[in-house]
Amino acid sequence: MLNKKVEEIMVAQIEKEMYSANLYLAMASWADRNGFSGVTQWMLAQSQEEVDHTVKFVNYINSRGGKALVSSIAAPPADFDNIKDLFEKTLAHEEYVSSTINNIVKVAQEEGDYTTLQWMQWFVTEQIEEEESINNILDKLKLLGNSGNYYHFDNDILGMRGGGAAAE
Ligand code: FEO
Repeated sequence: MLNKKVEEIMVAQIEKEMYSANLYLAMASWADRNGFSGVTQWMLAQSQEEVDHTVKFVNYINSRGGKALVSSIAAPPADFDNIKDLFEKTLAHEEYVSSTINNIVKVAQEEGDYTTLQWMQWFVTEQIEEEESINNILDKLKLLGNSGNYYHFDNDILGMRGGGAAAE
């Protein structure tokens, strides 16, 4: 049976992962409206991965005898200043998600739930990869500076997804 405190914080994570899916879908929509087809694909794939993360939590909570409740999801922002702003907000969001993943690990540790502790390791590694991938994109944007030549950048981003080097 899943420990109550662990169950509560994991149920709360369902909403956070689905909000992430919503946010990246909104970002994909912004990228599409602004002519970034590579970024659109990257964000759509990212959104789908967040749905997968959500399902992982739902399955785990239920498989341990908990109740995986699904709540309403807040509307994400629709507009962003520019492409750099888009990825800075992506990074800030993933850093926030990493802190929530770490909180689950902390509660599982405090409650002596070693099964959850071990299960959560996949998410700990996942967050390292997600942050690294977004930092790589921000590095590319820094190289571009104010040149405004985003055509190759956008193609590169598409390649990151296709090549499997992007966040999972
Ligand atoms: Fe589900 Fe991007 O963390």
